[in-house]
Amino acid sequence: MNFQMDQKFKDYFKTNLRQVFLYLIDDCNLRCTQCLYKLEIGFQVCKKEIDFEDAVKLISDFREMGAIKLTLMGGEPTLYGIKENNRPLLDLIRISKELGYEYVRIDTNGQFNSELLEKPEFKMLDEITFSIDGPTKEINDPIRGYGSFEKCVKNIKRAKELGYNIDITSCISKEMIKRDENGNLYLDRMIKFAEEMGIDKINFHNLFKTGVPRDYFSGNIDITIKEWFNVWEEIQEKVENNEYSIPVRIPQSFTTKEEFEKYPKYYGYCSCKNGSRILAHPNGMIRVCSLMIGTPYGIARYYDNKIVWDDSPTNELLAHKMNEDTPCTNQFKNNKYGKYVPTCVSFKPKQNEMIWKELQWENNRNENTTSKIRTIIAYDDEEITNNIINFIKPLEYVEIVAKPLNGIDTYNKIVELKPEMVFAKFNMSDMNGIEIMRESKQKLSDEIPIFNIFAENLAENEMETAYNIVGKKLNALVDEDDQERIVDILERYKEYKEHQNK
Ligand SMILES: C[S@@+](CC[C@H](N)C(=O)[O-])C[C@H]1O[C@@H](n2cnc3c(N)ncnc32)[C@H](O)[C@@H]1O
Ligand code: SF4
Ligand code: SF4
Repeated sequence: MNFQMDQKFKDYFKTNLRQVFLYLIDDCNLRCTQCLYKLEIGFQVCKKEIDFEDAVKLISDFREMGAIKLTLMGGEPTLYGIKENNRPLLDLIRISKELGYEYVRIDTNGQFNSELLEKPEFKMLDEITFSIDGPTKEINDPIRGYGSFEKCVKNIKRAKELGYNIDITSCISKEMIKRDENGNLYLDRMIKFAEEMGIDKINFHNLFKTGVPRDYFSGNIDITIKEWFNVWEEIQEKVENNEYSIPVRIPQSFTTKEEFEKYPKYYGYCSCKNGSRILAHPNGMIRVCSLMIGTPYGIARYYDNKIVWDDSPTNELLAHKMNEDTPCTNQFKNNKYGKYVPTCVSFKPKQNEMIWKELQWENNRNENTTSKIRTIIAYDDEEITNNIINFIKPLEYVEIVAKPLNGIDTYNKIVELKPEMVFAKFNMSDMNGIEIMRESKQKLSDEIPIFNIFAENLAENEMETAYNIVGKKLNALVDEDDQERIVDILERYKEYKEHQNK
């Protein structure tokens, strides 16, 4: 370890740390309505950029503690080291991959000079998340600044051409829950916009006033619980029915008291309690809950090569009943919501997100039943894919987590989502079955899924190579039209899992 750490800090995370949010800079070139990073609020910030050496030492120590996912944030992270042509940012990306982070992403407003996308180190990113707050400039620009929509879209298009894995993140403001002249929700149009742009997935943040400090700077574009429940169920139903072609992560935000009492472990998701994440800021603050950003509350401070646990009343964990499943502590403090209780801002049911999957959080929905079989269907023909999905859909014990349409994407989704079962066409033009198995094994070792290959036959040497790479995880050669066989494979695996659970 580079930092000398208080034992309380180590004890808090135990072996649970999985993801790091590294705030590189407390400054921004936009002034979005809902955001903290405005000059008038940031006046007390004297140290705006994280010290490069500290950043390297922090991500190295957090990696040693078990973190596998890193998000580079801010402020606007593409401003980090801008005077040096972003060299510190690019070096950090490279170093984080060298340290073994499985998934490194950047969260940006997309206003940067497109040349950044061409840099070899930038290309090492596993994901770029672009923030846009509406499917049109008329909705986005009043929130994020005039001209920001076009600039961001231009960079998204270029990133797409260059083959980046792209995510869009949007805040759900008043405008997003309105409907257009055809009765379509702008929220729904936002997802369609992402689909049409060829984006890989979309994520949403909620904007409520829930009695937390950020209420004071998050403008007046927030929505109410009543407005939210008029639209949430509509969108979530479409998500669960696989009506969108890309994964959609959408916060539930509230649930009823009754529902919470039924599944407290599930709805009680709280990063402060499960110790799976850490946020590190340029001013030395280390915290867990993002709702505490801009406050003196945190869990520790880093300085002079030490990480010092906060033993004072500003330790954010003091507010929590650490061993109890409760509604979101920070949002439930000063507010009463009638029959509703608040859930974590990161509580996004059934989300296709690496750490949510890693924690197997969906299993907490019903501890008595065996979890669903997380399956990928990979075929370079959308019609065939949809056909397979249609006959698997009625199997309530199967969850299709991705349907990649080429070999490279299949490999990416295996690594990102760690499914249990894969059905994949052998001969996809950009990466064949052997290459997918080899790369997956190299990256995930024993965590590779069970492979079922769509192919009539494999040459003897190919079969042997595949066995040498994945062993018994090579399960079957299947004909994509043989519905009975595919269902049988899934059914047998379900029985195997049930047996294991006994
Ligand atoms: C703070 S920004 C930092 C990264 C980068 N500048 C960007 O805009 O993506 C990260 C994300 O937080 C979102 N955000 C900002 N203010 C928020 C608020 N009050 N509530 C929820 N999300 C917020 C932004 O829209 C953005 O998607
Ligand atoms: S949301 Fe991002 S782009 Fe907008 S002001 Fe905040 S940090 Fe800047
Ligand atoms: S938003 Fe609420 S539930 Fe989520 S980490 Fe913060 S306090 Fe915990």
